[in-house]
Amino acid sequence: MIDTLKNTRNLPDSALQELLESTDAALAQRLKDTAREVCLKVKGPEVLIRGLIEWSNVCRNDCLYCGIRRSREGVVRYTLTPEQILQCCDRAWNDGVPTFVLQGGENPAAAKSLIPTVREIRERYPSAAITLSLGELPFELYAALKEAGANRYLLRHETANPEHYASLHPAGMHLESRLACIRELKRLGYETGMGMMVGSPGQTTRNLVEDLRLMQEVSPHMIGIGPFIPQEGTPFENYPAGSAETTLRLLAIMRLMFPEANIPATTALATLLPGGKQIGILAGANVIMNVYTPITERKKYDLYKGKTDV
Ligand code: 5AD
Repeated sequence: MIDTLKNTRNLPDSALQELLESTDAALAQRLKDTAREVCLKVKGPEVLIRGLIEWSNVCRNDCLYCGIRRSREGVVRYTLTPEQILQCCDRAWNDGVPTFVLQGGENPAAAKSLIPTVREIRERYPSAAITLSLGELPFELYAALKEAGANRYLLRHETANPEHYASLHPAGMHLESRLACIRELKRLGYETGMGMMVGSPGQTTRNLVEDLRLMQEVSPHMIGIGPFIPQEGTPFENYPAGSAETTLRLLAIMRLMFPEANIPATTALATLLPGGKQIGILAGANVIMNVYTPITERKKYDLYKGKTDV
């Protein structure tokens, strides 16, 4: 099996399932070691650091898993001002972090008001990467933000299975529209990221293989995955968290399938697994996100229970 690992793309579904489910600890370790080796060869030894700016926790959506879903009570809602955003970018830049990731709830009207801020960031830092993660927006807004200077966009597909997608989201949200956005972002020339939660309620190993196949088809530049972690006051509060080990194996498989992709070891992984960011790097990830959100607002960006970095 291990000889074929470097050829992960060509593994049949059954072999991918086996890698995800196997109780053979030595096999799992070889998978991660091989991924790390490929990462070092293809991406080099540098771990890339991104500056995460949690811009707003106001969201029009009501995703069943999410701590900033519209109907969750007790969330103190905030949106950073343009001045605050620029201060976050200045801090990141001065720390030697030239990639700003503006992430927030889905809120098209507010996202539109970000256009001048994006333009200002681009003028101040012509060489910086400006990454947006603002959910599903009208295509013309994606285009306007791109024109203002944004060059990357993260939009997780969450699950590649339409029925599973429907069970994680309220009526009115469809996998199809999510994928249409992802394809449009690519078409507009954004470096585009997708990804899924691992171990979300109802997810099977088969679904994870579907996620890998979907990503093979779309070929994203970036892939963000993390374990599902239940959040109090959401419909999924009593479901168990996803598995850190499965997340690590997926990171490894993704590195082998998409050697060039930028793949973060996420905060969700580190929340479940102490040292998770470092352990994720050793399993094939090459990116870490440092939080630059102002301290006063961090706790309010409460996606899941126990989030580290607050
Ligand atoms: N557990 C883990 N990840 C979550 N996200 C949202 N809620 C949770 C949760 N309860 C992830 C989603 C989303 C990203 C911003 O955070 O995948 O795309």
